[in-house]
Order: sequence, then structure tokens, then C-alpha cells
Amino acid sequence: MPLDQEIEFTLNGGPRRVAVNPEMSALTMLRETLGLTGTKYGCGEGECGACTVLLDGRPVNACLLFAVDCDGRELVTIEGLASDPVAGRVQQAFVEYGAVQCGFCTPGFVMQAKTLVERHLGADRNAIARGIEGNLCRCTGYRKIIDAIASVASAK
Ligand code: FES
Ligand code: FES
Repeated sequence: MPLDQEIEFTLNGGPRRVAVNPEMSALTMLRETLGLTGTKYGCGEGECGACTVLLDGRPVNACLLFAVDCDGRELVTIEGLASDPVAGRVQQAFVEYGAVQCGFCTPGFVMQAKTLVERHLGADRNAIARGIEGNLCRCTGYRKIIDAIASVASAK
């Protein structure tokens, strides 16, 4: 498939211009064209949340987003949160609470958790559980993940 369409968007705070094809997903663009492999390919069908990125500040599944639809938008990946204070606290809490095992799901959870903390839910475990229901983890059983997010959300 020829890369016959150029798009321009903001990626992790900086301008990017990328050649894509009309059927390419944002996930393929990020991982294969731009080498940003922190965003994971899990199911490719919008079921697991491993590919979660922020599009104009909202968490979305990059596997279901066409790259061409990023044109003119703002995209943030896990790499873009390296110096984000909320994401940093979330990652630290995941380690402290044992919410990271194989780590495959963690970038997606961190993207989702950052937005939950910023919604000021406090330690409302039910709201947090609803907020992460699009993210699957086959290792932890979720309790530790919810504990970790609640600890950060309630400390705000
Ligand atoms: S890879 Fe996108 S939701 Fe699973
Ligand atoms: S820590 Fe392994 S899938 Fe979540």
C-alpha cells in the first residue's frame, strides 16, 4: 500500500509530518513508521486497551483510529508522558502496589489512569473500575491496579 497521504499533527508536544496510507491505523503509524513501541499491540480490535493513547486529551484505542484521522489533532503516547507528574505518580504507585507483572498492559493503564486522576474521582473504586473497564490485564486481577490508581487519585 503506497504511503500517498501526508498528515500533520502534534505528537508528544511537537509538530510531526508523516506519510501514511488511507488504511493505516494510528497504532501502526506509531509503532512501525515512527518507532514508538511503548504503545502496545494487543488485540487489534478495540478490546484490550493496550494501545491506549490520548487524542486531543481523551484516551482512545489507537488500533481503531485511522492514522489519517490524526491530521490536525494532538496525539500523546506513553513516551510523551515521561516527564508528566501525574503519570509519574501513577507509574510509581503501580510499582508500589504490585500492579505491574509482565508489564504489557501497563502503558495503556497509565494513559487511562492519568485521565481518571485528572477527573478528580478521588478514591471512588467503582468509578475507577468503570474507567478502566476497556483495559485488560491477564496478570494482576485488577485489585492492585485499582488500589494503585485510587492511592494517586485520593492524594490529589
Ligand atoms: S490493541 Fe487496541 S484495543 Fe487491543
Ligand atoms: S501486568 Fe501482564 S497483562 Fe497486565
